[in-house]
Formats: sequence, C-alpha cells, structure tokens
Amino acid sequence: MSKDTLSITDNRTGVTYEIPVESGTIRAMDLRAIKTSEKDFGLMSYDPGYMNTASCKSRITFTDGDKGILRYRGYPIEQLASKSTFLEVAYLLYFGKLPSAEEAIRWDHGIRYHTMIHEGIKQFLNGFRYDAHPMGILVSTVAALATFYPESKKVFDAETRRIQFFRLVAKMPTLAAFAYRHRMGMPYIYPENTLSYAENFLNMTFHGSEPTALRPPDFEHDPVLARALDTLFVLHADHEQNCSTSSIRMVGSAQTDPYTAVSAAGAALYGPLHGGANEAVLRMLREVGSVEKVPAYVKQVKAGEKKLFGFGHRVYKSYDPRARIIKKCADQVFEVMGRNGLIDIATELERIALEDDYFIQRKLYPNVDFYSGLIYEAIGFPAEMFPVLFAIPRTPGWYSQWQEHLTDPEQKLARPRQIYLGEEARDVPAPELPELVK
Ligand code: SDX
Repeated sequence: MSKDTLSITDNRTGVTYEIPVESGTIRAMDLRAIKTSEKDFGLMSYDPGYMNTASCKSRITFTDGDKGILRYRGYPIEQLASKSTFLEVAYLLYFGKLPSAEEAIRWDHGIRYHTMIHEGIKQFLNGFRYDAHPMGILVSTVAALATFYPESKKVFDAETRRIQFFRLVAKMPTLAAFAYRHRMGMPYIYPENTLSYAENFLNMTFHGSEPTALRPPDFEHDPVLARALDTLFVLHADHEQNCSTSSIRMVGSAQTDPYTAVSAAGAALYGPLHGGANEAVLRMLREVGSVEKVPAYVKQVKAGEKKLFGFGHRVYKSYDPRARIIKKCADQVFEVMGRNGLIDIATELERIALEDDYFIQRKLYPNVDFYSGLIYEAIGFPAEMFPVLFAIPRTPGWYSQWQEHLTDPEQKLARPRQIYLGEEARDVPAPELPELVK
C-alpha cells in the first residue's frame, strides 16, 4: 500500500530517512534530520529565485501555468473580468466572497468616502523633482501614509486592518493621480465621490483646463474607457506568490504596518522584470520602430542580445489567460481613442514569436504586460505611469495576502539561510607602521 512519504537514503552514511509528503511538498525542516554526524547542522534546500519552493499556504488565488488557469477565490478570471467590477473583486479577495447587492453598495460608498488624502501628503509630493518617476513618488507616499495612521501598527486587530484596507484601496488612485499631476505641473484634481472608481481615477488624472476640443468629449467619463480600465484592474488584482506579493509577505512577517508593507511590495513591482515590464514593452516597440523591422529585432532576441519584454512567465508556460482578455480590451479602447502603429508591431512580434522554435521551446508566450501598456498609452497615460497602473489594482491582492500571512499560525518571522562561500576565519593584520620620512 503506497504511503505519503519519501524514503531518502543518505549515501554518505547509508542511513535511510522517511519524510512525509503533504500537498505535493515536503517540509524543508524535515531535511535537517539528515546529518553525517551529531555536530552536522543538517541538510537545507537551495533554491535561487524560489523556483521550486512553496513559501506559504493560501486560499486566495490559484494558477495552473500549463493549463493557463487563473482563479480568484475559485472564480475563473474570464468570468470575473466580464461579470464583476474591480471593487467587487477587491471585496472578494479580502473577504473571501463576492459582496451581496447590499454589501456592494456599502462597500462602494465606503471606498468613495475614503478617497481623499491628508493635505500634508501634498508637501511630500511638492518635494519631488518635476520629472520624478511617478512610481518612485507612489512607493514613497504610500509609505508616508503610515505616519498619518499610526494606529495601523495594530496589525493583529481585525477592525483596524479592515479600516486600513478601505483607506489603501481608496487612496491609491488619488496618490497615483496626484503623482501624475505633479509630473505634468498641473493642479491636483480632488476625488469626485459621484464617480465610479475608474471614472474618478481618470478624472483626477486627466481633467484639465485645456479646451475639450483637444480631446474626445466627456473623455474622463467615457464609459468604454472607464470599463476597459476597470477590467484591466480586475486582471491585475492578484497573482499568488509573485515577486511583489512574496515581498509583502516577507515584510509582513516582521509585523510591519500595512502601508509600509505595501510600499515594499510596490518597490518590487517597480522592477522591469515584474511590474515594470509594460513600460519596457512600450520602449521595446518604439525601439523596433516598424513592422518591417520586427524580424531583425527577433533575431537579436534569439541571439540573447535583447529581451522580448511582455513575453515569458515563471508560472504560465502557455498563454497567460489575462493577455487574451486584455487584447479584447485593446480593440475596444482603440475604437474610442484611435489605433496607433505600435499595436501592429506588437501583433507582428506575437505572430512571429508564436511560430518560432526559440520561443516555443522556451514556452514563451505573451504575458499580462504585453498588451496592457498599449491600452494605457491609448487612453493617454505616459509609459512612466504603467507600473503605477499595476500597483493600484494589485493593492487589494497584496493586502489580502499580507493579512493571510499575518494570521497564519504556521508563519513566523521570515529569515532564510545561506550557503556561505566567503573567507574562513582570519585575524585583522597589525597596522603597518608608516615608513619614516627620511
Ligand atoms: C509579471 O510572477 C507573476 O505572477 C508576475 C505577474 C503578476 O501578475 O504578478 O504575472 C506579472 O511580472 C509578468 C512578467 C513580466 N516580465 C516580463 O515580461 C519581462 C520579460 N520576461 C522575462 O524576463 C522572463 O520571462 C520572466 C522573468 C518573466 C520569467 O523568467 P524565468 O521563469 O526566470 O525564466 P528564465 O529567465 O529562466 O528564462 C528561461 C529561458 C532563458 O533562455 P535560456 O537561458 O534557457 O537560453 O527563456 C529565456 C531566457 O533567456 N527568456 C526570454 C524571455 N523570458 C525568458 N528570452 C527572451 N525574452 C524573454 N522575455
């Protein structure tokens, strides 16, 4: 009769160990029993990039990289993207269920009335250079919020966590829009509580004094743009243990307040291999320059000279289910805002890559970032805002994962080990006496 255990024989000693298997994993601490002598520290596992390490148990998001599956609390992303709003999804991630009609009204009202930020935050914003990257501003100002809500340090108080959840989900768009307005040298537009979450963000970002003739009528409240942005927010809301979510869990294990922990997650997301990828995609498409030049660029990628940003994924070794949905969003936005040449370059890049052995063998497919930047740019956002547009919707995901980690009785302060390859013990040499000047 098969048993849920591994029998490991240590050939250094001939001893065999029986190690339990649970949920397709072994506990790394069980390896420590494998020693060559009583003085031996015992075995550890070594896993650069945590390619094969489960850091936690979670009930929030499930992905299957081979089948291209993504579910939030069991609901397929395709259904949530077409049937739910971002705020309903944020509620789902945190509370574990979709809100009832009455809960949705209370939740939406609560968010709308938490969108204002303390006037003191504007002092921070005004301290940044005029051309400061908006993600650098966002990561800094969200951390500063912790100083305005010191009670947020009571991380084990459920009601305090719930209030900070409202504040963070509500205030991230305001901080993001203010960061953009600072960069543009334009006056801040305050939240408008009569608008939906996406409409309010578009209004705070783009509402201006320029003649409306310069932009489509009622631009900030265009239902197609607002719905496309809301759908993009749904798609970006969570994604299990990605780099930024693992970062907030790591920082949260020290019982840091949620604002500072979200700032740490934003710092990880800022990197071009993670949330900074859609900004890198736009720069890549501009570098390619035309459909005719795509083959030459692909050749450079295959030679290892360039990276195809927006392609590849640690988990998805088939099409990222979000990329497929985003591509549909792109067509809707381009109908309203007009189509630019970059989408044709992107489509040609995708066509070639999906046929080329280099990409097929490495299981490289478009990921969530490949098309999202094109939509954001078509709406009017500059590339520097793209990681910010990732951080806004990922906030409920980060926060829900942070809370789950904090309330998991199995978790403790994160403190990995290492393989030391440095110098052995040695003495500090006696100081060399300066040669006497003759
Ligand atoms: C996000 O984890 C998440 O969930 C993240 C995210 C989320 O929602 O939170 O989904 C969001 O971060 C999406 C990923 C956005 N990043 C990019 O688009 C940047 C470009 N992609 C790559 O840098 C890369 O694909 C990663 C970092 C995303 C994943 O890389 P892995 O899993 O570490 O794979 P690897 O780097 O070991 O690559 C395997 C092979 C290598 O070739 P060989 O050395 O075997 O010859 O594939 C090659 C790589 O060189 N490769 C690429 C490539 N990605 C991998 N070659 C060219 N272009 C690429 N984009």
